Amino acid sequence: MTRGAGGLDRILAMEIVRVTERAAVAAARFRGRGDEKAADQAATSAMRQELDKLPIRGTVVIGEGEQDEAPALYVGETLGKSGPEVDIALDALEGTTVCAKNLPNALSVIAVAAKGSLLFAPNVYMQKIAIGPGYPAGTVDIDAPPKENIENLAKAKGVPVGEITACILDRPRHARLIESVRKAGAAIKLIGDGDVAGIIHATEPGETGIDIYLGSGGAPEGVLAAAALRCIGGQMQGRLILDTPEKKARADRMGIIDFERIYSAEDMARGDVIFAATGVTDGNLLAGVRFGRDVITTDTIVLRSSSRTVREIRARHRDLERL
Ligand code: FBP
Repeated sequence: MTRGAGGLDRILAMEIVRVTERAAVAAARFRGRGDEKAADQAATSAMRQELDKLPIRGTVVIGEGEQDEAPALYVGETLGKSGPEVDIALDALEGTTVCAKNLPNALSVIAVAAKGSLLFAPNVYMQKIAIGPGYPAGTVDIDAPPKENIENLAKAKGVPVGEITACILDRPRHARLIESVRKAGAAIKLIGDGDVAGIIHATEPGETGIDIYLGSGGAPEGVLAAAALRCIGGQMQGRLILDTPEKKARADRMGIIDFERIYSAEDMARGDVIFAATGVTDGNLLAGVRFGRDVITTDTIVLRSSSRTVREIRARHRDLERL
């Protein structure tokens, strides 16, 4: 993408807000209805419609699945009217289960970068560690024991270990990790779903009370979170979990050569990146969609790596027919 004043990233940053807003409103109509599939489908089709209006030739590199699994926004699908070639990473509804249960932190998310800039990640788990901006490089390391990472972070932050809070997905596979973090003396915020939000929250400890994100979640969500971190600052490392021959073959087909590679945020989202997320359900950083009598209110953050701008956009939509 062209950089700086007048550059495509500058223009698109405002355009992609409409994309996540519209998907979030569509998903929010299914909040708390216990139907994950319907919520996801509504968000996907709304996002697709809006993306097709953009002045780009975009290729979905992180999407709703492979072409045979997803009717729309599948990996490899091309979108947009015409214009410069870009990579698109998206999750029309990140946190389908939390949306279906009307629990916090369901989002509609998108990241856009120049063609070839976003990691083409298979839909496998990724081991992840992330902290916010302002810490020396190497404060945390994906291969270090949790205790060491927590102690180094506490030292860098200048607080006792007891004042550090880690965010971890509440899954049986994280039992040992949870035990180690608690033994180290830190607190844990367990989340039911939504590790894109979990990682973004770690960049704003003052507001969210979360200092570090630890554990494994989806690799596609890892790329989306990396794109956000490139814009906000912070450190992240991720490693694909390719623990079966089938997953290795899938990664191989996507051009991944080194199965043990540790990816930084820069490796997953290179160059100028733009990122937007709209709240579907209420969360620590974003409010969910509000349906009023004749107005719908949405809350979005839109981020741009080239300027490090963080915009928070509260929109009141009155053209309800369109949404
Ligand atoms: P979906 O929106 O696809 O349901 O993903 C929700 C999520 O919690 C992600 O944020 C996370 O990366 C992944 O699922 C974790 O996977 P699992 O539920 O298998 O532990």
